[in-house]
Amino acid sequence: MVKLGVNIDHVATVREARKERNPDPVAAAILAELAGAHGITCHLREDLRHIQERDVRLLRQTVTTHLNLEMAPTAAMVQFALELQPDMVTLVPERRQELTTEGGLDVAGHERELQQIVQNLRAQRIQVSLFIDPEARQVKSAQKTGAELVELHTGNFARAYHYESGDQSWLAERSRLVDAATLGHRVGLRVNAGHGLDYQNVALVSNIPHMEELNIGHSIISRAIMVGLDKAVREMLEQIRLGESELPRK
Ligand code: PXP
Repeated sequence: MVKLGVNIDHVATVREARKERNPDPVAAAILAELAGAHGITCHLREDLRHIQERDVRLLRQTVTTHLNLEMAPTAAMVQFALELQPDMVTLVPERRQELTTEGGLDVAGHERELQQIVQNLRAQRIQVSLFIDPEARQVKSAQKTGAELVELHTGNFARAYHYESGDQSWLAERSRLVDAATLGHRVGLRVNAGHGLDYQNVALVSNIPHMEELNIGHSIISRAIMVGLDKAVREMLEQIRLGESELPRK
């Protein structure tokens, strides 16, 4: 089945609102794994607004499935990852003022630098994924860097699905994801996706050909506040499976 990577950043967001010890994203990761998550994702941002170094170090010791560290492609972060040895690094762009990651990495514009970073990480047997917009030129450049995976940015699709539901623009956004996934697979990349996915729209992405893993955070943690994390993760897994078994309708 298409795998679920649970992004636990927003557990840390709540903790950092008070700079206290709770809720602990490390405990959340354990609960998410017990509920069936295939992996845990966290984003160590330069501004440390949610996940802290302490969290990632403890996650490295406690995660038993697959630890995916999202980070900016900076020398300091690469050094940290080489020391920490997550199972996978997803390189993402970072802007200080953004509410969340806005847009994918411009791989086409920074092919050389990224090639070097990918090489350094892969030499330590860390899988590397590049978070990109679903555009052919970004997919082709990602392949040239030597990365094994791409994570397709589903933000535009998710936004179109919810806010422009009067028109059919989400169909065009989904087609862009299908095209990028197909091209990625053709050039030998493994394909993940994420950003803005929720209980309503996820099935339309889990049934895209070649999709391997979806990284989902905000919707799961939001729901967990209401129904508990175990239930929230299990319900997301159900929705992912639904997409694989039938073509969902809006
Ligand atoms: N994938 C990447 C690369 C991200 O940066 C994020 C947000 O941190 C996510 C997935 C998860 O997005 P969301 O919280 O909207 O599910």
